[in-house]
Amino acid sequence: MPASDRVDRVDQIPQWLFAFDPAAMAAYRTLALLVAHPEVLRRALDDDGQLARAAVLESVRLWPTTAVVLRDTTAPTEWAGATLPTGTSLGIVSSFFHRDGATVPGADRFDPDRWCDGRADDGRTLLPFSAGPVVCPGREVVLYVASTVLRTLLAQVRLTPEPPSPLGPTGPLPRGLDPFALRFAASPTDAR
Ligand code: HEM
Repeated sequence: MPASDRVDRVDQIPQWLFAFDPAAMAAYRTLALLVAHPEVLRRALDDDGQLARAAVLESVRLWPTTAVVLRDTTAPTEWAGATLPTGTSLGIVSSFFHRDGATVPGADRFDPDRWCDGRADDGRTLLPFSAGPVVCPGREVVLYVASTVLRTLLAQVRLTPEPPSPLGPTGPLPRGLDPFALRFAASPTDAR
């Protein structure tokens, strides 16, 4: 969709520059997850790119780069037995909802298929790129760039986590993951 005439295009440049930082973090965390889940990695390299895209979404569900979504009510709002006046500020702690085992089955596990088969689609519980009228406009470019980089890299390079990864299928995934602490040994895939 073209930008409206009221948009200052030059002012958009800082947003793009700073906003790509979380895209790189998400891509690196996805890399660590895929390497720790060889069966998902094999399928992600074999399909048309949908699973790699879903894997990026799943990594941002597990470790959101925007922890809270902010909203103001636009009308008097009934909430837990009280009425909030118009203009009340709300903080939606998506980072909590994403890992709430009471509403998200397998909340602490890497399950990218949930983004392919409709389980993640209610638009209320899982919102790593937000939802509604101000959903992140960078969503599709982030998912496209990150998944393309990952598929291109992992088709050519075999990565082994050093030290061995704690992110495998056997245990719950940690609540935080420092992307700058991830280390891998690399060799060409044809050396398998
Ligand atoms: C992993 C990467 C990213 C994530 C998880 C992410 C997530 C989000 C979230 C949750 C919001 C809040 C929306 C709301 O208030 O409901 C947002 C806003 C926004 N994002 Fe992103 N974002 C990412 C990368 C990017 C990139 C690369 C761009 C630019 C190309 C971008 C552009 C924007 C803009 C312009 C807004 C403000 C939208 C508005 O208020 O209308 N984001 N993003």
